Amino acid sequence: MKVTVVGAGAVGASCAEYIAIKDFADEVVLIDIKEGFAEGKAMDLMQCASLNGFDTQITGTTNDYSKTAGSDVAVITSGIPRKPGMTREELIGINAGIVKAVSASLIEHSPNVILIVVSNPMDTMAYLAHKATGLPKNRIIGMGGALDSARFKYRISEALGCPSSDVNGMVIGGHSDVGMVPLIGKAVRNSIPVSEFLSEERMNQIVEDTKVGGATLTGLLGTSAWYAPGAAVSALVQAIAQDAQKMFPCSALVEGEYGLNDLSIGVPCILGKNGIEKIVEIDLSDAEKTKLTESAEGVKKTNALLDGVLA
Ligand code: LAC
Repeated sequence: MKVTVVGAGAVGASCAEYIAIKDFADEVVLIDIKEGFAEGKAMDLMQCASLNGFDTQITGTTNDYSKTAGSDVAVITSGIPRKPGMTREELIGINAGIVKAVSASLIEHSPNVILIVVSNPMDTMAYLAHKATGLPKNRIIGMGGALDSARFKYRISEALGCPSSDVNGMVIGGHSDVGMVPLIGKAVRNSIPVSEFLSEERMNQIVEDTKVGGATLTGLLGTSAWYAPGAAVSALVQAIAQDAQKMFPCSALVEGEYGLNDLSIGVPCILGKNGIEKIVEIDLSDAEKTKLTESAEGVKKTNALLDGVLA
């Protein structure tokens, strides 16, 4: 298993670090446009190998895509992150051109690669990758729901005063402050609905805190978060590497699923060696369906801003 991570910034580097620590990949290539930066991050990470006990080989390159050749999975984190007060959608002008060019370079050297798109606005960048590359839909995965669900589980565990490992729950819909659809009605502690333990008011608070999970961190850190985004990406890469058939909400190209068409949006997906093995259609309540439809309308509005890039 060879993994390329495009962008050696905070998200890319922590993604490489978590992949290495879990020790399931043979090789991780970090690539960045900033001279020496990916090489430096790779060397720093490799000096953790004897301390953290991994054999994954991490190398870095300044923009030489020939070094990425034969990658099974490539993670696209490149582009600018948001600053406090910015929405993910405001990044589209700069990031769209970058994601389009990076996707083409990756595929040139790794024709069978599975792409995981992290750059924001993520659902629109995943859709752009589909339109620009024409890859089959199983091979383009937008990473948002896995992260948003982890933040959701964190908020639930905080409210319940229990470990996150006792909690399960999923966030579908767009990876945006307004578009996320945390499925609070389906969230459980062990197998018991969280509504058994929490008031409606507290559950509504969890939903709101989850939706602004990224923005809250951007406010605190002055830039976009990286640990949980890196961990979420590494979980997706691991599921693919190990053909795990695990379910994660991912931004997938929908073709009729959930009554939606012609966009990438967060829906439950089974991940395995082929990338998205299947989009799972679960029963949603009428309120959940309405929220997902509204979320899709929001993503489509952002997608409409791609006209110039796709022309
Ligand atoms: C976040 C970025 C990765 O939500 O979108 O932290």
